[in-house]
Amino acid sequence: MHSIEDTAAFSRQIQNMFTAIAPRYDFLNRLLSVGQDRHWRKKAINRLAPVPKERILDIATGTGDMALEIASRNLSVQISGIDFSRRMLDLGRNKIREKGYDRFVSFQIGSGECLPFTANSFHGAVCAFGIRNFADVKLGLREFYRILKPGGRAVILEFSMPANPILNKIYNWYFDLVLPKVGSLISGHNDAYSYLPDSVADFPEQNEFVRWMEEAGFKKVSFNELTFGIVSIHCGYK
Ligand SMILES: C[S@@+](CC[C@H](N)C(=O)[O-])C[C@H]1O[C@@H](n2cnc3c(N)ncnc32)[C@H](O)[C@@H]1O
Repeated sequence: MHSIEDTAAFSRQIQNMFTAIAPRYDFLNRLLSVGQDRHWRKKAINRLAPVPKERILDIATGTGDMALEIASRNLSVQISGIDFSRRMLDLGRNKIREKGYDRFVSFQIGSGECLPFTANSFHGAVCAFGIRNFADVKLGLREFYRILKPGGRAVILEFSMPANPILNKIYNWYFDLVLPKVGSLISGHNDAYSYLPDSVADFPEQNEFVRWMEEAGFKKVSFNELTFGIVSIHCGYK
C-alpha cells in the first residue's frame, strides 16, 4: 500500500468523490456486483452476530446498508453510523425513515480515522468497503479498537483479489475495463470507478491485513473469503 503524503487532501478528494456519486451509489452497487453486495453484507452481519441491546457502530456507513441489515433483524440493537459524506448520510437517513428504523439507527458526520466516541463504548464495529478509502488505514484500525468495549469485535468487509489465476484474470478484466466504463457512464463521474480497482490493488492482501489488525491491538484475528475471494471478511476482538 502506498503511503499518502497529504492525508487531508486525499481525504477531501475521497469525500468529494463519494458526495458526487451518492445519488447513483446504491444502484451501481447492485448493478456492478450483480446483486452480490447484499449477500456479502448479510454474511458480514452474520459474522458480527449482534445480540439484543448491543451498541454497534457502522463506520463509513455511506447510505446505511450495513446499518439497515442489522436493523432488519429486529434485535433492538442500537446502531450508530458514521461517514464523512453528508450526502451519502442524507440518502441513508431517508432509507432508515422509509423502513421505520429511526428508533434504532442514528447517523452522524465524522471521520473513521478520528471517531467522535469515547473509548470502550461499543460492543461491535462494522465497516464495509470503507477502510480501503482511508488516508491512514492503520490509524483507522487503532480507532476501531479504541471505541470497542473489552471483548468487543470488529468485522471488516473489503474487496480482495481471487487467488485462482484464471479467476484473477477475469476479475482484473472486469475491474479494469468493464466497471470503470459502466460506472462513469451511470454515475457521471469519470474517476470514481477507475479509482475503485486501483484502490483494491493497493490494499494489503488478507494475511497482511490480519497483521495490521493485530498491530492495532486486535486478538483472534481471522478472515474468510466470499465469492471465490472477490471479497473477504476480517474479524478481530478487543
Ligand atoms: C464504498 S462506500 C461504502 C458504504 C457502505 N458501508 C456500504 O457498504 O455501501 C465508502 C464510504 O466510506 C466513506 N468514507 C471513506 N473514507 C472515510 C473516512 N476516512 N471517514 C469517514 N467516512 C469515509 C465514504 O464517504 C463512503 O460513503
